[in-house]
Amino acid sequence: MEMDYENRMVSADYLPEDEGDNPLRPQELSDYIGQTKVKENLSVFINAAKLRGEALDHVLLYGPPGLGKTTLAGIIANEMGVNLRITAGPALERAGDLAALLTNLDPGDVLFIDEIHRLPRTVEEILYPAMEDFAIDIINGKGQGAASIHLPLPRFTLIGATTRAGQLSAPLRDRFGMVMRLELYTPEELAQIVSRSARILGIPCEPDGALEIASRSRGTPRIANRLLKRVRDFAQVISDGVITCDAAREALDRLEVDELGLDMVDRRMLEAMIRHYNGGPVGLDTLAAVIGEEAVTIEDVYEPYLMQIGFLSRTPRGRVVLPAAYEHLGIEYSGQLML
Ligand code: ADE
Repeated sequence: MEMDYENRMVSADYLPEDEGDNPLRPQELSDYIGQTKVKENLSVFINAAKLRGEALDHVLLYGPPGLGKTTLAGIIANEMGVNLRITAGPALERAGDLAALLTNLDPGDVLFIDEIHRLPRTVEEILYPAMEDFAIDIINGKGQGAASIHLPLPRFTLIGATTRAGQLSAPLRDRFGMVMRLELYTPEELAQIVSRSARILGIPCEPDGALEIASRSRGTPRIANRLLKRVRDFAQVISDGVITCDAAREALDRLEVDELGLDMVDRRMLEAMIRHYNGGPVGLDTLAAVIGEEAVTIEDVYEPYLMQIGFLSRTPRGRVVLPAAYEHLGIEYSGQLML
């Protein structure tokens, strides 16, 4: 199986097959599993804004990919009873692109900007007055004849999503009334999500089967839902179509997703760190070169889960493989960790 990051079975990025009108997306906060703190706080803010008849304050969602930031934006718009407009930082190339979106909003609408840390500077600068004063100033023409036009905007809610809150400029971050961090899901939460998805898709799935898929999904619903569909294929071909624990195990083994959800890329990275660098510390750029990925991909996609399960640590001098990873890989730990 091809093992580049874009196509890996456990990638948390969108794949074309994830797109479309996704019936698995919950529409209401009460259908949304996990992220308890975020959910409770949002529920209060949504109810308060509705009581006052106001637009919700701007929200920044951050955390690793695949945890449901777009889904939450959809739920917020739905609960507020407003439209949702979706765009992404890299898609807004010029100030005019954002101005066109903003001037077409209805009062209270939610504008969702994914990857907001990748907004070009010129676009970010017109976002400040839009968020703060609900107005933008557009310069029309050039040189002597240039004129500034002041455009009032409807009160709207900006929901920004990013995998890297640290990369946002302070002025942008400060303009969000709420900053919410999404956490990786526990296997139990993911098992609930898998069971819910199986029900919606009409896939027979036993609780043990759901938990087996959940345990190998790296804390990420997008991965859990993708694995569910692939495991269903195996279950239909190798057994009677029911996702039992055994069927899930066999399918996931064949997909080379191990008991903890690591794939070949994770294992190759950890093994290279152990064999060539004595388990670290290894600098991020060195690591990137070793496995042929970009540094940001390692930070956003590979590391959060490996750190969550205690396999990897970020230290000031570089990345260090922890004893639990040696044990999982069946490599003897020589114990010369210098943290
Ligand atoms: N699908 C993706 N994320 C979900 C969540 N948190 N709850 C329910 N279904 C989901």
